[in-house]
Amino acid sequence: EHFETLLAEKRGNVGLITLNRPQALNALNSAVMRELAESLAAYDADEAVGAIVLTGSEKAFAAGADIKEMQPVSFVEAYVGDFLGGWEAVAATRKPLIAAVSGYALGGGCELAMMCDFIIASETAKFGQPEITLGIIPGMGGSQRLTRAVGKAKAMDLVLTGRMMGAEEAEKAGLVARIVAPERLLDEALEAAAKIATFSRAAVLMAKEAVNRSDELTLAEGLRQERRLFQSLFATEDQKEGMAAFVEKRKPNFGNR
Ligand code: HXC
Repeated sequence: EHFETLLAEKRGNVGLITLNRPQALNALNSAVMRELAESLAAYDADEAVGAIVLTGSEKAFAAGADIKEMQPVSFVEAYVGDFLGGWEAVAATRKPLIAAVSGYALGGGCELAMMCDFIIASETAKFGQPEITLGIIPGMGGSQRLTRAVGKAKAMDLVLTGRMMGAEEAEKAGLVARIVAPERLLDEALEAAAKIATFSRAAVLMAKEAVNRSDELTLAEGLRQERRLFQSLFATEDQKEGMAAFVEKRKPNFGNR
């Protein structure tokens, strides 16, 4: 596959997508949206891929939506054309998607990282929602996913002042899962993804689905859903294999389909 705005390559059972618009700090334009949706859908459909890593450059994961592309857009164009609506495709990815963030993750860049299942950050990572400085507000989930991740106090602080927060603050607040040294970032994310890819594919997809439902359901509904998914896994070969391997003190060999 050849893309203009990103690189997509397989590393074993992991799909690696690298945003690649260095001249614009990986600003997210409609070409990035299209190509990212296409590459994610391809990895979702690829039986050999068990998890996906999304990363940027050392200086920027992504410095936001492309301001030069947005500048002339009218309300009618934005509304009728469902401006930014296509980004939903990222959150709709069914396989685990890890964001490996170094440098700036601002505006749409922060929102893109938050659409991933978890964020591994380099010590250099800087997160923020600076839309307010441009006369707009977050438009790809920032007001919702950031608030769920870090709570109202810090979300309000970031969205209203437009300030950036570093990796340490972001981890303490619950936005980031792990912080690593810059030179470890990609390996850490690839190793996590490769590990996920060794597990039962059905169990992995259900685990992601179950955790994501916690944002949408009441506790009672979420618990019921979790229990049904849990029970259904006893219909899989992978459950028999995983538990037999434990009892026989050997490594499991999951079918992964
Ligand atoms: C278009 C961008 C860009 C962006 C950077 N560039 N961010 N182009 N859209 N979001 C371009 C610059 O214009 C410049 O190109 C080149 O990338 C390098 O950027 P510099 O500003 O020279 O780099 P630096 O001085 O290191 O500053 C880095 C920075 C700054 C602090 C990240 O670039 C910055 O503030 N960028 C905008 C951040 C932002 O406001 N993001 C939110 C966007 S709104 P040229 O060719 O000019 O030299 C948003 C809306 C979300 O995301 C709503 C839903 C998506």
